[in-house]
Formats: sequence, C-alpha cells, structure tokens
Amino acid sequence: MKILIVGSGGREHAIAWKVAQSPKVEKIYCAPGNAGIAEYAECVDIGAMEFDRLAAFARDNKIDLTVVGMDDPLVGGIVDVFEAQGLRVFGPRKNAAILEGSKAFSKDLMKKYGIPTAAYENFDDPQKALEYLEHAKMPIVLKADGLALGKGVLICNTLEEAKEGVRSIMMDKKFGDAGNQMVIEEFMTGREVSVLSFVDGKTIRIMTSAQDHKRAMDGDQGLNTGGMGTFSPSPFYTKEVDAFCKEHIYQKTVDAMAAEGREFKGVIFFGLMLTQDGPKVLEYNARFGDPEAQVVLPRMKNDIVDVFEACVDGTLDQIDLQFEDNAAVCVVLASQGYPVKYEKGFEIRGLENFKGKDGYYVFHAGSKFSDGKIVTNGGRVLGVTALGKDLKEARANAYEAVKWIDFDNKYCRSDIGKAIDEA
Ligand code: AMP
Ligand code: GLY
Repeated sequence: MKILIVGSGGREHAIAWKVAQSPKVEKIYCAPGNAGIAEYAECVDIGAMEFDRLAAFARDNKIDLTVVGMDDPLVGGIVDVFEAQGLRVFGPRKNAAILEGSKAFSKDLMKKYGIPTAAYENFDDPQKALEYLEHAKMPIVLKADGLALGKGVLICNTLEEAKEGVRSIMMDKKFGDAGNQMVIEEFMTGREVSVLSFVDGKTIRIMTSAQDHKRAMDGDQGLNTGGMGTFSPSPFYTKEVDAFCKEHIYQKTVDAMAAEGREFKGVIFFGLMLTQDGPKVLEYNARFGDPEAQVVLPRMKNDIVDVFEACVDGTLDQIDLQFEDNAAVCVVLASQGYPVKYEKGFEIRGLENFKGKDGYYVFHAGSKFSDGKIVTNGGRVLGVTALGKDLKEARANAYEAVKWIDFDNKYCRSDIGKAIDEA
C-alpha cells in the first residue's frame, strides 16, 4: 500500500514510524513532513490546508490511504474533499470534526446526551457574557469557541480578569474568529488524563491512557504550550475510572454524534478531568494528541494500518486493540523562549545516538534540513521518548536519552512524569 500522512509535527512522525512497521506498506509520503519524518517517508512540499493539491497528489500517485494528523485540515473539511473524489482517507468529516472545532457544539452535545462535563453557558454577545459574569462564582473558565492552537482557554480568578478575558476574546478578537462565540464554564479541580480512541462511526476502541504537561515550566508554572511532555499509562486512570468512562462517556459520545447525523470516523481524544464527583470531559479533540501519540503509539501492538482501514470500513468491531504491558515517557526538547519568542536554525547534534537503540525514539516536531545538516525549525523541536518496564524506568531512560541530543537554546522541563511518584 501507499500511504500519505498529512502534517509536520512530532505526532505525524510517530504515526509515520508506526505505519512504517506495517508489512502491507510499500511507500509512505508525508505532506509537508519534516527532517525526522523524512527517514520513513518521502516529504512532499504541499501545505496541510491545500486540500485540492493534496487530493491531486493522492490521485496522481495512487495513494491507497491518506491519514490526517492535524486538527486544522480536519475541521476545515479535508476528508470531505478527498471523499468527493473517491479517495480513501482516515479522519472525521467536517460535520464530525466540529466535535473539536466548536467548543459550544461539544458542550451542547454533552448536555443533550447527559455526558458528564463542567456546567456552562454559551455566548455570542459579549454584553450578555459580561452581565453573566457579575453573578458567577470565581475562579471561572473562558473558552474561545473555535481552534486557537490550544491557547483559547483562560482561567480567571477575579471578576476583573474575567471581564478582561471576555473583552480580549470576543471584542479584541485575540484568537480571531475562534472568539465569535465563547463558552463560560465552571472551574473544576482534579487530575487530567488524555484518553485516545479509534472510532468507525459505531464502534469505539479505547487506547491506553496518557497524561500531558501543558505548562512551559517545571511545577506546572509558566504559559500554556502545545505540550511539553507526556507519560503513558496514567496510574490515575484506574479500573474504576475506566468502567465509569465506558458507561457514561465513550460509547455515549459516539452514539450521540451518530444520532445527530454526524457519524464520527477517526480518532476521538477525550480530555478528562478526574474530579471528586467522578470523571468529566474537559474537551474533545478529533485527532491524536501531540505529544500523546509519541507515548501511546510506541506501546501499541497492532498493525496501525489494519486499524485505520477498519475505521474507514466500519469493521472496528473485528479489531482486538492491544498495548504492551510497559510504560513510555516523552520529554519535549524546545527552543528557549517557547511559547513566546525563540530563535530557530541551530544545528541539532546527536540524533545518530538513537540508531539501533530499542525502546528509544526521537520524534521531530520542528526540524528541517539546511546545508546537509538538520537544524531547529520550531518552538517544540524534538520529542524524546523512551520505554521502560514501568513509568519510573521509562522516565529515567527518557531523561538519559535527552542528554544524547544537543542544540543551542535547548530547553526542556525536568519534571515530566513526576506526578507518578504520588500515585
Ligand atoms: P482545553 O483546551 O479545553 O482542554 O483546556 C485547556 C486546559 O485548561 C485543560 O487542559 C485544563 O488544564 C484547563 N481547563 C479547561 N477547562 C477547565 C475547567 N472547566 N476547569 C479547570 N480547568 C480547565
Ligand atoms: N496534547 C494536547 C493536544 O494534542 O491537544
């Protein structure tokens, strides 16, 4: 088979690495890809939002299956464009990717179908939002409705902060059109867990759990980022939590989407908070997490191409999804200054240290070739993943492997996976 992967980050590198394990696959392309992905795939210089060019490429090169890793093209309807041309593609259509693309939609869906989530109100009028805040309990959470690179959520401790937040989202349009609507919701406390799943429209198969570290600095300080590191499994995702989510969240979400005429095929990512009142949904994403994929996929036993095809064909009930009984930790190596301001273009040294080392992976998030070298090309540069028999061993291995890599302005958190000591 010939596979095309759409995207250019660490998640797409992990997907490409996993697809490359499949005996069915003879050739992988990635658009646009990066210098790490180039080890497994021929990188094609087409942007992820250039749907017509991507579809033409898939047609001309007789691609058997396209896998879309990123949220923007999914929410923008890339799957519909491919399907209209008879091309096989893994991912939700536009009318289903709205589960991630509109927080107001996802909150209304959860309310309508009784799926546990924080209490909320939706607003499209900033004056009404400001009035509502006068009587709201603090802290409170403001969410821009649309996609905002994971930055559209504000947690406000005072009324003044919250009013300023409404103004910046809805009036100053800090996140652009994503702020045309807004969700204001109850602040919850608890541990966060990411659970990814494969869905074929009716059947859902849950992957192993993971936990992300969204803040830039140690001790969960600093600004929110795309994710500074992950571990899998989460020791806080117990059998009881799993049983609760299976009864009240996972299948219910798939059935709710089908009942709304928005059959979901692809990956649903459940962002959960384990509150005192039980697990609640923080958010849905319509794709693999980044950097969750970098710890979940190395632990997956199945041929991922079989699973992708089962989702497309509606035969996921025939797949027995299995994960190794081990653990993985991913530490993101970023450029100093990320997520605000940082320099790029520095040579990355030491990548060869990963060659032939089982259980160690270096997934590229922002890298490119320059004058025969591989150089930094983003805020998040690499995700160093290591396996271990348990989380402690995986963490020690990951931090050992972090030392193998060097580039100017290299920055990483030193406490990825520290929470497991409290488990
Ligand atoms: P989201 O993009 O909706 O996952 O939100 C980003 C982050 O904001 C989450 O990972 C949480 O840490 C935090 N967050 C979102 N909603 C809430 C909430 N209702 N209560 C507390 N924290 C929240
Ligand atoms: N790691 C969080 C996300 O992919 O949205």
